[in-house]
Amino acid sequence: MAGNWKMYKTCGQTRDYLARFRPLVANTADREIVLCPTFVNLESAAREAAGSNIEIGGQNLFWAKEGAYTGEISADMLAAVGCRWVLIAHSERRQYFHETDEEAFKKAEAAIASGLTPIVCIGETPAEREAGETFSILEKQVRGSVGGLAPEQFAKITIAYEPVWAIGTGKTATPEIAQEAHQFIRRTAEQCFGGDRAASLRILYGGSVKPANVKSLMAQPDIDGALVGGASLDPADFAAIVNF
Ligand code: PGA
Repeated sequence: MAGNWKMYKTCGQTRDYLARFRPLVANTADREIVLCPTFVNLESAAREAAGSNIEIGGQNLFWAKEGAYTGEISADMLAAVGCRWVLIAHSERRQYFHETDEEAFKKAEAAIASGLTPIVCIGETPAEREAGETFSILEKQVRGSVGGLAPEQFAKITIAYEPVWAIGTGKTATPEIAQEAHQFIRRTAEQCFGGDRAASLRILYGGSVKPANVKSLMAQPDIDGALVGGASLDPADFAAIVNF
């Protein structure tokens, strides 16, 4: 279960959250929990989470190892402050910062090279769904952002399916709609990397996941976890999602 905090929470709020959240997930050793605060709070979040099953992830990275790229953050820098995960090509990055599948691919390669687990985000816009293009868009995104990885690199990634029309809107995809997309993504991965690798690929669902709907989503065979925005900002809500 991954929480994407987007551009919310100062360092004090991050510390308070972890102090409240840790006891709520103290008995969830069988669950993997990832929190993705903003860059400036990663180090303190990693410190506050140390010794628990809460892992920390960045919300973005740049693919170069280092260099004259003002304002950017490398995979090694994320790893050095205690990150184990990183979100790549979230739909807000695609929409507001014009990130492409080609860039997502380079970022995924860089993340893996530094030992981070990338959570590569894909998903169709409302206009694409209405135009009946959902599957062709998902196929293009899977092939473009992870299809070029070596099989052993592909084994290290997680994909998040987040239909843009369901993000922050309160409109969750029904479990059936989400399952259909997840199954399609797994089939596309199978075409690229074979059945075994596709079967072990983890695909998270994201888009208005809440304590009230997480169980029915997680009951679907191809949904392996959730990427949670709004509901991850409240420790009690996110703990309820983790403990679904
Ligand atoms: P939401 O966001 O849960 O607030 O819909 C999900 C996301 O953008 O990752």
